[in-house]
Amino acid sequence: MTIRSVIKGSGSALPKRAVANAEMAQMVDTTDEWIVERTGIRNRHIAGEGETTATLAIEASRKALEAAGIDGADVGLIVLATATPDQTFPATATQVQHALGCNGGIAFDVAAVCSGFLYALSVADSMLKTGMAKTALVIGAETFSRILDWEDRTTCVLFGDGAGAVVLQAQDVDESDPNAPGIIATRLHADGKHNELLYVDGGPSTTGTVGKLRMRGKEVFRHAVTNLSDVLREVLADTGIQAADIDWVVPHQANARILDATARKLGLPEEKVIVTVDRHANTSAASVPLAYDTAVRDGRIKPGDLVMFEAMGGGFTWGASLARV
Ligand code: UT7
Repeated sequence: MTIRSVIKGSGSALPKRAVANAEMAQMVDTTDEWIVERTGIRNRHIAGEGETTATLAIEASRKALEAAGIDGADVGLIVLATATPDQTFPATATQVQHALGCNGGIAFDVAAVCSGFLYALSVADSMLKTGMAKTALVIGAETFSRILDWEDRTTCVLFGDGAGAVVLQAQDVDESDPNAPGIIATRLHADGKHNELLYVDGGPSTTGTVGKLRMRGKEVFRHAVTNLSDVLREVLADTGIQAADIDWVVPHQANARILDATARKLGLPEEKVIVTVDRHANTSAASVPLAYDTAVRDGRIKPGDLVMFEAMGGGFTWGASLARV
C-alpha cells in the first residue's frame, strides 16, 4: 500500500458579467472574427465591484467541498495559485481559510502564473504524502482583468477572470492496481530566461505599482507547444502509460490553436481534449481547475477516468500531472 492524493470533488466560480467579443470590439480595434480565428475565444467573464480573487476562490472552494462531501473544518491545507492576489500580503489562501472555517491548518499562495494550479497541485500532493495534512484544498483563482492594459488589443482580448478548486485527500491505495485512484505522476519546469516574453511591468519591489500584463504572443505560442508536448511525454514515460490510454486531457486554456497543436503532436484525438477557452478565455491559474470542474459537472469526466492536466505560462513555467479521478 502507498499513500496517494485523491481528487474527492471540484468546484468553480465565474464573475457575473460575461463579455462577448462584440463588446471587446467596442473597446479596442478588434473584431469577433479575428479573436475567434486566432484564439477560439468567444466570451470571457470580468469581475465587477465586490468580486475579487478571494471571493471567487471562496465560492469555488465551497462548491468543491460540497461535491466532496467534506466539511471546511476538516481541511488542513490550502494551496492557492494566483498571480492576482487581493493584497500583496497576506496570502489570499488565508482569506479562504477564514471564510471556510478551516482555521489552524496550513494556508499559502503559490505564484507560477498560468501553471500555478499544476504547481499548487504538486505542492499539496507532496505535503499530503509526507503526512503534513490529510485533506487539502487546491485552488486556482485570478482576476487578470485588473492587470490588463485595456488599450492593448494584443492582450486585453485574451484573458478572463474565474476560479476553480479541487479537494485532495490522502488515501492508502494499492499501486499495483492500474485502476487505483489519485495523482500518479507530476513533472514541473521553469526557465527564467524567457521572463521578458510574458510579464507584468510593475510590482511592490520595483515600481511600487501593480503594473500591467505585457506579452509577445507569437513567441509564447511557439514555446508553449514545444514545452507542453515535451512535459506530457515525460509524464507518460515516468508512468509507462500510453497516450492512447488517457481518457481526458485538461489543458491550460490559452488558445484553441495551442490545444490542437499539442494534441496533434501526441497523436491524441481532439474529442479527448477539454476545451473551455471559447467560454472563459485565458483565466491563468484558474483555467485548469475551471475546465476540469466544467467537464465533471457536464458528465464528460467520470469517476475512474485517467486525466492529464497540463499548463504553461509566464516565467516560463510549465508542467503536467496524470491522475485517476
Ligand atoms: O497563458 C499564458 C500563455 N499564453 C499564451 O499561450 C498565448 C500564446 N499566443 C497566442 O495565443 C497568439 O500568439 C495570439 C493570440 C496572442 C496572437 O496570435 P498570432 O496569430 O500570433 O497573431 P500576431 O501576434 O502575429 O498578430 C497578427 C496580426 C498583427 O497585425 P500585423 O502586424 O500583421 O498587421 C497584430 O497587430 O494581428 C494583429 N492583432 C490584432 N488584430 C485584431 C493583434 N491583436 C489583435 C486583435 N484584433 N485583438
